[in-house]
Amino acid sequence: MNAATLPDGPSLPRFVQGGLVIAAPLWMMRRLRERYGSAFMVNVPIFGKAVVISDPAEVKQLFMTSPDIADILDVNLGLVLGPNSFFAISGDAHRKQRKLLTPPFHGRRLRAYENIIEEEAVREMAAWPEGREFATLEPMMRITLNVILRAVFGADGAELAELRALLPAMVKLGSRLVALPIPRTDLGRWSPWGRSHAYRRQYDAIIDRLIAAARQDPRLDERDDVLALMLQSRYDDGAPMSRDEISDQLLTLLTAGHETTSTTLAWAVERLRRHPAVLRRLAEEADAGGSQLREATILEVQRTRPVIDATLRKVRAPDLRLGRWTLPAGQVVLVSIYLIHRDETLFPDPLRFDPDRFTDSRPDTYQWIPFGGGARRCIGAAFAQMEMNVVLRTLLRDFTLEPTNERGERWHSRGVAYCPAKGGRAVVQRRTRERRAADPVTRAQAAA
Ligand code: HEM
Repeated sequence: MNAATLPDGPSLPRFVQGGLVIAAPLWMMRRLRERYGSAFMVNVPIFGKAVVISDPAEVKQLFMTSPDIADILDVNLGLVLGPNSFFAISGDAHRKQRKLLTPPFHGRRLRAYENIIEEEAVREMAAWPEGREFATLEPMMRITLNVILRAVFGADGAELAELRALLPAMVKLGSRLVALPIPRTDLGRWSPWGRSHAYRRQYDAIIDRLIAAARQDPRLDERDDVLALMLQSRYDDGAPMSRDEISDQLLTLLTAGHETTSTTLAWAVERLRRHPAVLRRLAEEADAGGSQLREATILEVQRTRPVIDATLRKVRAPDLRLGRWTLPAGQVVLVSIYLIHRDETLFPDPLRFDPDRFTDSRPDTYQWIPFGGGARRCIGAAFAQMEMNVVLRTLLRDFTLEPTNERGERWHSRGVAYCPAKGGRAVVQRRTRERRAADPVTRAQAAA
């Protein structure tokens, strides 16, 4: 075992550091980075003394390290999402689940979900008011919730309606419980834990009905939803996924994928209204059937407004040599997505919103990291990017988004994800078919 070599950090009392991390986390990260450079120690509530890193070489090394040496932290997530959740398993169990659940989120499979996404976007946007400012976050939340329930859970009819009513409250309560100490005694059914168990029983009953219906579906093998794929998939030893595994993982996919995607979409609206030249080019591109600038715009929204600001690992080996540091067993490491994305040596003029950074080149896997990295990289990354692309395409096709001179919206933490503080406010005008036909780009296209 090697002696630990850890970066410097502030000598402020633990509770002061913890208080600052809670009250002003992003400000604190910026200040510590200015003072100590790309790596420093800080006291984080719940996790204790953490090493924060944002040097791309060190981040790359950490992400490439085997999960047997550094993996996610053991937090209360298993109690909230279930013991089979991605966020509660490690080692072989995690590798086996990744192998089984990666295919539904890639390549050809993804295209099958496009229609559902467009349908949900059109349905939600049909109620948008014209010429009056409104927050887009809630509508985006409804779109991404319905998309996951249909594309991932394969829900329809009564089950879809029940899950739609149950899940937002259940996930909200669960995300609060993660941060609380686990009670040693049963606090009764009206306690937050009691309510959480009651929600879970209701949820499991709906999932049982969905599974039973799918098992009786003679066309199960033609279905594209993730539940249908889960039921047909087999581990290497030929065993199917158990009912508990399916139930926990569906809930995990929803919790991880719903709010992250909708808050990013609300940020896209917020950024685009403040960058009219990009907005104009995007509308022209959408009318001409292109997507290159839109894809680059999504990358730049995620760089400048990463909704998850950090990802955590814990050293599992007796020690870990990481760049300049030797970290002892149990050391918590926080990869600051926020800091690396605003590093001017990686992204010149980093605060400028400029999608053209990515129009001709893909971002580096270890410098552009809104989805984390390595064995734990977000399994739904390609799904989320495709979903955001289709929602924005629909918005640009059906509406004119009005620019604004107002200051950018502040970052507001919703617990898990950062959203625009005013909910990504928009003013839109509906583009009628005739208006779209009168558009110079559409006319030129028609003539061609
Ligand atoms: C813009 C949208 C999204 C963002 C910003 C995002 C971000 C992240 C991040 C930062 C992680 C942790 C990675 C790490 O520790 O290195 C993660 C993990 C995960 N995400 Fe996403 N995510 C998004 C959408 C989705 C979607 C749509 C799904 C599924 C439908 C999903 C499912 C998951 C799962 C299951 C994990 C855990 C993976 C594991 O532990 O192996 N995410 N995501």
